[in-house]
Amino acid sequence: MDKLAATRAKKFSIKSYSVEHGYPNRRRSLVGDAKFETVKNREAKLSWLQESRSSSQDFDLSEEEVIVVNESKEDNDYTSLKKSSLLITLKEGGLADLPRVLKLVQASKGVIEHVESRRNESDKGRFDIFLSLMIASQSLLSLMRAIRQGNLGEISILREKLISVRDPWFPRHISDLDFCTHLMTKYEPELDADHPGFSDKVYRARRMEIANIAFEYRYGDVIPRVNYTASEIEVWGTVYRELVKLFPTHACAKHREVFAVLEKECGYAPNNIPQLEDVSRFLKKRTGFTIRPAAGLLTARDFLASLSFRVFQTTQYMRHPSNPHHSPEPDAIHELLGHIPILADESFADFSQEIGLASLGASDEDLEKFATLYWFTVEFGLCRENGQIRAYGAGLLSSFGELKHSLSDKPELRNFEPEKTAIQPYQDLDYQDIYYVAESFDDAKEKFRKYVAEKLPRRFDVYFDPFTDRVHVVDSVNKLERLISKLSNDVHTLNSCARKLKKHSEE
Ligand SMILES: [Fe+2]
Repeated sequence: MDKLAATRAKKFSIKSYSVEHGYPNRRRSLVGDAKFETVKNREAKLSWLQESRSSSQDFDLSEEEVIVVNESKEDNDYTSLKKSSLLITLKEGGLADLPRVLKLVQASKGVIEHVESRRNESDKGRFDIFLSLMIASQSLLSLMRAIRQGNLGEISILREKLISVRDPWFPRHISDLDFCTHLMTKYEPELDADHPGFSDKVYRARRMEIANIAFEYRYGDVIPRVNYTASEIEVWGTVYRELVKLFPTHACAKHREVFAVLEKECGYAPNNIPQLEDVSRFLKKRTGFTIRPAAGLLTARDFLASLSFRVFQTTQYMRHPSNPHHSPEPDAIHELLGHIPILADESFADFSQEIGLASLGASDEDLEKFATLYWFTVEFGLCRENGQIRAYGAGLLSSFGELKHSLSDKPELRNFEPEKTAIQPYQDLDYQDIYYVAESFDDAKEKFRKYVAEKLPRRFDVYFDPFTDRVHVVDSVNKLERLISKLSNDVHTLNSCARKLKKHSEE
């Protein structure tokens, strides 16, 4: 485990990031939380930069330089050659300044191992130069300054270790999700006087008992079963019976199709609350998604990160019996009736993972956009089906009232356009007054991909390896080449299948 993960592991004991950092208890939502983290992280980053600059006694250091200085201090070594990868976006004028850059590298006693150039994605008149070189930290600092002072262009360092220092920490392996369990609010309903269980001691004790399953859960464990009480089953049954009446006319085809299978294979029934372990095994066979128990509503960063590994963090407790048709936070009804059926659809599962992968290491500002997109799609999305509008969002499919409202003539329906949807203010205390309609999950995924690539580019790309459940940071040509060679084996196999099929069809 690297140093940052270890620090985060220490913070693991903090069960509610937001509350312990002053977030108002009553404002619960992924988007609200993402905004809160943005402010907190900005403050933390500024103070880190200020501290590092003052300890270096150089207040003019850029953020990049602070990173190199800190890294060298850790290793106590400024002079031996280390591998570095730089991305320099030359100023206007094509490649005319490239020789000057190379001369500066030579003057800094850097040994170039690889150079390549390509047109800048957003400004076609400029060129990006990728440089892989061996250079001492001290010389790297002078080189960066020389490039900046010479007005040759913008420079940034591409080094995986630096990504983890400079950008928000993110899990690299599915087991790292053990550190992605930060709650937006504490699980005790006593934190919020408006919570229906606020003054119910028995309910609060039960919530704590079930939340402890999630707190104690670690990667690879079997999810413990909950023996639901008669009162919990009654609440479940009340909502279940009402919702199944609406599904035939309001739920999208995929939800309806899978729901029927869940009733046959996973114990979905008005008098039985399905167990997460059974549902997880079901999803694994269908789309590779698995479930991890969550103690409550997680921070946007942790929740979205889990989607990258095709893991859905799921609550296991039941809402308070005083109000079966409303819960101020996600509960087993919301998860099992709303989210699970649609996660069994390959195309939707891919779309969900795509949002997760985009969120890894994203800036706080971008994370807010991903949380908003998640809100208007996975939670409250509508789609077009044979000329009719149907619901696929879990917030709709688990709420009798809002499901009816969403398909009535009251709300405004707009076509899903990621750029606009990402900044749309939303309702977290009432039904939405605007819903976004997707043409299909594949279409939504393609639009989302395009939007992320064009509007929210990261300094690095990530690739999920399904064999090892690991996310690889693709920040160098060597790594990219290794991945391409791996994928080309799969392409070779598929080509061979295609040839065989073609041959059989001709015979
Ligand atoms: Fe949800």
